[in-house]
Amino acid sequence: QTIYLKDYTPPAYLVDSVHLTFRLAPTATRVLSRIAFRPNPDATSSDFLLHGEDLTLISAKIDGAPLTPDVTPTGLRCTVPNAPFIFEAEVEISPETNTALEGLYMSNGMYCTQCEAEGFRKITYYPDRPDVMGVFTTRIESDLPVLLSNGNPTDQGDGWAEWHDPWPKPAYLFALVAGDLVNHPDRFTTRSGKHVALNIWVRPGDEGKCAFGMEALKKSMTWDEDVYGREYDLDIFNIVAVDDFNMGAMENKGLNIFNSSAVLASPETATDANFERIEAIIAHEYFHNWTGNRITCRDWFQLCLKEGLTVFRDQQFTGDMRGDAVKRISDAVVLRAHQFREDNGPLAHPVRPDSFVEINNFYTVTVYEKGAEIIGMLKRLVGDDAYAKALDLYFARHDGDAATIEDWLKVFEDATGRDLTQFAKWYSQAGTPRVKVHEDFADGTYTLTLSQHTPSTPGQDHKEPLVIPVAFGLLNDNGDEILPTQVLELTKAEQSFTFDNLSSRPIASILRDFSAPVILQRAQTNVERAFLLAHDTDPFNKWDAGRMLAQDVLLRMVRDDATPDSAYLDGLAVVARDDNLAPAFRALVLSLPTEDDTAQALVDCDEIPDPAAIYTAHEALKLHIAQHLQDPLPRLYAEMTVSGLYSPEAEAAGKRSLGNALLMLMSRLDGGKQAAQQYTGADNMTQQLAALNALLKIGKGQAELQAFADQWQHDRLVMDKWFGLQVACAAPDAAATTAEKLTRHPDFEMKNPNRFRAVFGALKSNAAGFHDPSGVGYDLMADWLIKLDALNPQTTARMVSAFDTWKRYDTDRQSKMRAALQRIAATPNLSRDTTEMVTRLLG
Ligand code: ARG
Ligand code: ZN
Repeated sequence: QTIYLKDYTPPAYLVDSVHLTFRLAPTATRVLSRIAFRPNPDATSSDFLLHGEDLTLISAKIDGAPLTPDVTPTGLRCTVPNAPFIFEAEVEISPETNTALEGLYMSNGMYCTQCEAEGFRKITYYPDRPDVMGVFTTRIESDLPVLLSNGNPTDQGDGWAEWHDPWPKPAYLFALVAGDLVNHPDRFTTRSGKHVALNIWVRPGDEGKCAFGMEALKKSMTWDEDVYGREYDLDIFNIVAVDDFNMGAMENKGLNIFNSSAVLASPETATDANFERIEAIIAHEYFHNWTGNRITCRDWFQLCLKEGLTVFRDQQFTGDMRGDAVKRISDAVVLRAHQFREDNGPLAHPVRPDSFVEINNFYTVTVYEKGAEIIGMLKRLVGDDAYAKALDLYFARHDGDAATIEDWLKVFEDATGRDLTQFAKWYSQAGTPRVKVHEDFADGTYTLTLSQHTPSTPGQDHKEPLVIPVAFGLLNDNGDEILPTQVLELTKAEQSFTFDNLSSRPIASILRDFSAPVILQRAQTNVERAFLLAHDTDPFNKWDAGRMLAQDVLLRMVRDDATPDSAYLDGLAVVARDDNLAPAFRALVLSLPTEDDTAQALVDCDEIPDPAAIYTAHEALKLHIAQHLQDPLPRLYAEMTVSGLYSPEAEAAGKRSLGNALLMLMSRLDGGKQAAQQYTGADNMTQQLAALNALLKIGKGQAELQAFADQWQHDRLVMDKWFGLQVACAAPDAAATTAEKLTRHPDFEMKNPNRFRAVFGALKSNAAGFHDPSGVGYDLMADWLIKLDALNPQTTARMVSAFDTWKRYDTDRQSKMRAALQRIAATPNLSRDTTEMVTRLLG
């Protein structure tokens, strides 16, 4: 059943308050609810319908009088007074057998919840929609020592605890945790002097992995006060780590629940990348308190209202903590690799979709990351001061509301006087715009002509021009900047911009700072790209010039075995040794586009990509780079040694990232000697894992792999790395068999999403392995998705996207992938989640 944005109607009844009692028991938890309803004056219907799934109704009452409602598999209906009334119900649920990890479930003996988007209906009967907001009081009865819910603790006794959340909220922000947990406590005083108790709750044994997350939380709280003027609003803020979790984390009011991979870290067990991700996710969930909780979404079509804005805010935060340039480049890498891929395939959808079957299928890179790009473009177009003014107005006007994208844009229109009608199309039009560049120079005048075109996407054949902010600057041929960055507004299908009084032909730097999520199509010589790599003052475009050189080299290597251009290799060598450039930046310049990026680049040239040939070209290029840098490699690698105690801060992490990029290159020349040495000497996971990675990539490291397993057997998160790395590093013809072998490992647990993703996410990312011409990768993936769907539809549905590029390949691969998808589609009782995804994929 498809739900449409255009069909929105206001709720028939509103909730004033909710009182819940949980009598916890693994297979027979009782949930008692007492809900104060009143008719909504704005309603268009008086139908009283409560959502409910997988519930056993024990009893129900209205204003104290027992009744027998009309119950279906999706909800409950009954007649109610045309005036405020109290609805009471008792239901029974079974958290222990809930492997979908949605609603109330158990993980390692601990009870926890995940209600976003529509999981609360698996807890009790309720109007489970975000525009119904109530004040929740929760009583938990259990012998477990730690009992947590939203808001502030109000009372507790032997075997029970009560919580009250004064802030009205939708049911998707409800949370409950009960378990044998220990906490890492701290405190924070808000700038107006409010004292807040902070806790990170974990299983005994994990106490030592909380300190970094706690620091990140305090930094986030300070940052949101300083940058957005937002203070925390309860006496307590709890974070809980859970091993079995479908996503990264969840912003439940006052009780954030985290996938343990998104909060637990120690130098020995977490990499620099893990630390950075944890800092960002802690910030993200904390920032949701204002952008998501205090101002929530009217309906799930507005998901990007909270997610796009909150991702944008966490990106700003990370930029402030760790450096804007490197953060911007990393975000662009992710966007191009994943969001552009989504936009170019059968799963393309607008940032605000206009229909869905299962909303969980729309927690996508498009909604999140492209949603964040839209905020960034808006900020760039109106300027920093106007952005700040608009945000203040947004918080003032909509605090307590369930809002829409229209509300959001209206705030900007009112604050700036700008008409955002055309800009709003970014929310409704799917697909990645291509911006073609044409340059002219005559009589001292440089003319830049930009034209935009968005390819059609499923259900959207006709595309209109968007407002595209193009940050732009000019250099002269000495490499001096003669026109500092300015923002050109491309609003028409084609538009020209002129710059005069120039003494010679300038070199243009276009789309600086990746000012819009578009693909720039620019015919440019590699000499000119190498010039920008050497001289551009904009760090993003300096990096991107190197990236375009690499892509050009790779395409020519794939097509006719060409040897890499010396403009590229020489440019790379200069950057690699340039001490004036941050090591983290240099590491990014040394990195190559992914094999999947190269495949898409070929598709953009109307060619059929061959994953095996792309793999070969990538491997060959890495060897060429290693050989070209042979002389300085050992010295540069030694220079990146970080001595002293491990610190996850940006500077040390940057040195390690460059050092490890160099190690990967060195291992192609020295047979892994340096990597083996690094492995033995490593005192932190970053260095240990990078060394193992370098060894496995060159077909070595079996002894280290075994030693790693022996050392880390007891640590689930570290063992996830062990599972994933083997598949990621496997040669194309061994990837599927490696994955298959790992599924038979005693520690492979398909019910744990992190473990499942470690193996199958790595198979999906190993492009040449997944697309091995035998089809074994497709078959293995399909086999396991069919098995997992019966247990965990959400994680299955997300992983089916492994097949989203099927239409770009040769007919043999296409028919094998189509057959795999059809086999999944034909599975009896396939979940709604996976059914929607395979239907869209098969299109
Ligand atoms: N709102 C959460 C976040 O972005 C994501 C939770 C989504 N979970 C889900 N099952 N759809 O931080
Ligand atoms: Zn979020």
